[in-house]
Amino acid sequence: MSAPLVTPSIGKPISRVDGFDKVTGKAKYAAEFNVPGLAYGVVVSSAIAKGKINRIDTREALALDGVLQVFTHENRPKLAWFDISYNDQDAPPGSPFRPLHDATIKYSGQPIALVVAETFELARYAATLVKADYEEAAHETDLEANLHKARKPKSGIASLLKPPPPKPRGDFEKAFAEAPVTMNGRYVHAAEHHNPMELFATTVVFEKGGKDNKGKLTIYDKTQGVTNSSMYVTQVFNIPSEDVRVLSPYMGGGFGSGLRPQYQLFMAVMAARELKRSVRVSLTRQQMFTFGHRPATVQNVALGAFSDGIMNSLYHDAVGETSQFEDYTEIVVSWGGMLYPPVNVKMDYKVVPLDLYSPLDMRAPGGVTGMHALEVAMDELAYNLGMDPLELRLRNYTDLDHNEDRPFSSKELRECFRQGAERFGWASRNAEPRSMKKDHNLIGWGMATGIWDANQMPSRAEAVLMVNGKLRVSCATADIGTGTYTIMTQIAADTLGMPMDDVLFKLGDTDLPFSLISGGSWTAASVGSAVQSACQEVGKTLLKLAKKMPGSPFKGAKWDDIMFSDSHLRLKSDPSVAVSLQTLVDQNGGKAVRESVTSLPNALEQRKFSRNTHSAVFVEVMVDEDLGTVKVTRAVSAIAAGRILNPKTSRSQILGGMVWGISKALEEESALDHNFGRFMNHSLAEYHVAVNADIHDLDVIFVEEHDDIVNPLGVKGLGEIGIVGMPAAIANAVFHATGKRVRDLPITLDKLL
Ligand code: MOS
Repeated sequence: MSAPLVTPSIGKPISRVDGFDKVTGKAKYAAEFNVPGLAYGVVVSSAIAKGKINRIDTREALALDGVLQVFTHENRPKLAWFDISYNDQDAPPGSPFRPLHDATIKYSGQPIALVVAETFELARYAATLVKADYEEAAHETDLEANLHKARKPKSGIASLLKPPPPKPRGDFEKAFAEAPVTMNGRYVHAAEHHNPMELFATTVVFEKGGKDNKGKLTIYDKTQGVTNSSMYVTQVFNIPSEDVRVLSPYMGGGFGSGLRPQYQLFMAVMAARELKRSVRVSLTRQQMFTFGHRPATVQNVALGAFSDGIMNSLYHDAVGETSQFEDYTEIVVSWGGMLYPPVNVKMDYKVVPLDLYSPLDMRAPGGVTGMHALEVAMDELAYNLGMDPLELRLRNYTDLDHNEDRPFSSKELRECFRQGAERFGWASRNAEPRSMKKDHNLIGWGMATGIWDANQMPSRAEAVLMVNGKLRVSCATADIGTGTYTIMTQIAADTLGMPMDDVLFKLGDTDLPFSLISGGSWTAASVGSAVQSACQEVGKTLLKLAKKMPGSPFKGAKWDDIMFSDSHLRLKSDPSVAVSLQTLVDQNGGKAVRESVTSLPNALEQRKFSRNTHSAVFVEVMVDEDLGTVKVTRAVSAIAAGRILNPKTSRSQILGGMVWGISKALEEESALDHNFGRFMNHSLAEYHVAVNADIHDLDVIFVEEHDDIVNPLGVKGLGEIGIVGMPAAIANAVFHATGKRVRDLPITLDKLL
């Protein structure tokens, strides 16, 4: 045999299959789909945080030639009555916000009107002419001033994925009192807003007809899940589902902001139905600050250890803000109970309702927040012990998740520590704070652990081997910039032994097989499993066709006896016994070979194990003491996340997480003016995010990790783990550099001067 028979694309650093379309502008985003007769909607936002609208005057706007309508709570159409119709796949327990529902104002920036006009410019101008008279009520937006209102969050279906912390075990108070070495600290995080490049937008293409004769809608929405948007629209507006098609082929950044239908979707659909016209509604950058955000939090951590570093007690509580209408929750405190073995553990999580919009998942929701506090606390404990922070973690290393009292499906965190430390040069660290200097800058080295979930959700996919021998695979999932198009093409290509060029993967369309929202780092595992299964089903049908061929050498062959490579079905025992896929599809009576599969997680097997990704993060900072500025000069992130489908897109995921970790640790903060109850720095000039000049040497290591439990592909997902350990590692490096323990985020220069 000469040429290798199997050349799998999985595991190869393949460039994005959609890369060319993206860089040439061929890839279209929600606000870029144009149709004749498109009208434009601009949203008017509330100027007060709480109260009601006494009067809303739209006459001046309506008087302009070209203004088609101004929608307010007074003239909006009849809509679904019950809360459940407004729920979505990521809705927290409570009563979802309803745009234009009534005169009540629940938060600053709430949409109070939609102006629709022939042009965007006219709509935008007309929106400035809408005048509202308010009756203001006292509002509360300050988390720290309202901590006495903290209460247990309500639970609901959405809290299945976000269970409350486990019950206390052992006797924390007693153990902590007996521990010879302890620490305790309070950690405060500011709110943060998602700021994807692409603004939220929906283009609704209206066609006459439809089942109820009220029109057919093709909706281009910015979303992390077309099925989520479609469900919302059909329920809220009571539209037959066959008259609604939602598409989202590309997304210019999501980070969690697209996990729920946002109000521009509601507005655009309402206007299109009422005006019987195609309508686009785009939000402004300022309006990015008028829906979900990462909640502000206050956390307390206390840790106790014996003098050899073995921990005997762990306490972690957190209070997060939520809105007055929904109980947004996240897993902030449970991680310590999974990572460390102290037998005496107490963890608590509460929420404080404020007059703000409901918070919303943002990359590693809860995880990056809680792990910042916990891993800074570990560093503090290490210093109180006089022990190297990495050594402290190794002494308290555990292969069991003590929250659930079960093993991990795989956990190569020890290897992450080893490889990360080696690459970084951690062994040569002098633990003494302020011991390293370069010119007038202090240098510091810090490290932290990261952990995130490895979940699989039910997903459906279709695979079609077409009569021309090409493979088309599809699923209504999203590519939120993560590389879904590419990795699904790889999985499909390898499963049927085809070159990637012969495979077309389609997503982001409700006409395709069902998938849930793309989030929680579960898309690679969930959709990947469905794609693999659907392609295997095609393979099984091809085997049947092969057996039927006259004189077939595959007559007695079972599924396990064959393989696919080089676009042929072959006998494993003698790969030269082969038949081409084209020949096989030709046997199918002129029809394509088409199979659809719903892939479900193997829940029985999976629940015997905790399934997580892990990371070890090492960071070097340079602190200018005169100016208080912090620069992350070097960072190494060693990741254990099961099988790496594509080292190139995977590395990009982790790099993105690391960049955001720097941004979160040092810059990002949505500043509230509590007098107005409003986020004030609602622009990219004032809401600071890391830019190129802030980013220096970033290094990613993927540690080998085999896992048969998570799914047959062994994939764990990489969307979120990259950010988790970064803020703590940076904070710890800042302490090492300066001797100053800054427990709050972001670490801005005022906190260091
Ligand atoms: Mo992610 S915060 O689940 O998009």
